[in-house]
Amino acid sequence: ATAPCAPRGALIVFEGIDRCGKSTQSNMLVNTLRSRRVNVEHWRFPDRSTKIGQKIDDYLHNGVQQDDTAVHLLFTANRFEKRNEMLRLLAGGTTLVLDRYSYSGVAYTAAKGVPHLDSEYCRSVEVGLPAADLVVFMAMPPEQAAARGGFGAERYEKLDFQRKVAQQYEALKDSHWLTLDATLQPELIHQQVMGAALPMVENAARGAPLGRLWD
Ligand code: TMP
Ligand code: MG
Repeated sequence: ATAPCAPRGALIVFEGIDRCGKSTQSNMLVNTLRSRRVNVEHWRFPDRSTKIGQKIDDYLHNGVQQDDTAVHLLFTANRFEKRNEMLRLLAGGTTLVLDRYSYSGVAYTAAKGVPHLDSEYCRSVEVGLPAADLVVFMAMPPEQAAARGGFGAERYEKLDFQRKVAQQYEALKDSHWLTLDATLQPELIHQQVMGAALPMVENAARGAPLGRLWD
């Protein structure tokens, strides 16, 4: 038998195509958890505040072609530069709610269809990062997301590409993901998110071991 682990925070990740409502839902989750006295931090990837994150931000805002592998590895490096802090917070009992993570890294790059940048390669470079306790996948038809305000402001916000991203998410998701209908009312979605997130927070507090990518 494995020894029981120390209490820790949970790692909860929101995923989905652009403009599907991840920011709204991750905010609602953080607020509700806080109101229940859960120690929680809200992060997003890419983290545009670092030097690597600023390079990513430049890439997302200009049309200049850059090597796809180099860009992919910037997104990955942006997670690894936050790895120690993530592990420290989780070990200290803080739950982390992430707006995008490695799953975006795989889905968006694999959607480009560059021969050697397939999903297997993309997963391989994430190895060593902590795995999410819960992935909340917000499913929305790309046409509907594209009709939302602000769509098209960033590089990947093109309907054809978002369709390919959605296909990659379908291939990537497993039975542990919580797939939600992102076209429902925010409050209804939030109730489903809470129903799945609270048990994860409790499991983590009881010392359930943190997983590792790529499992
Ligand atoms: P955001 O819209 O959530 O700020 O993310 C910016 C874009 O970056 C979005 O189109 C998804 C994309 N992305 C990747 O291509 N790879 C990644 O690893 C991450 C985290 C995001
Ligand atoms: Mg976006």
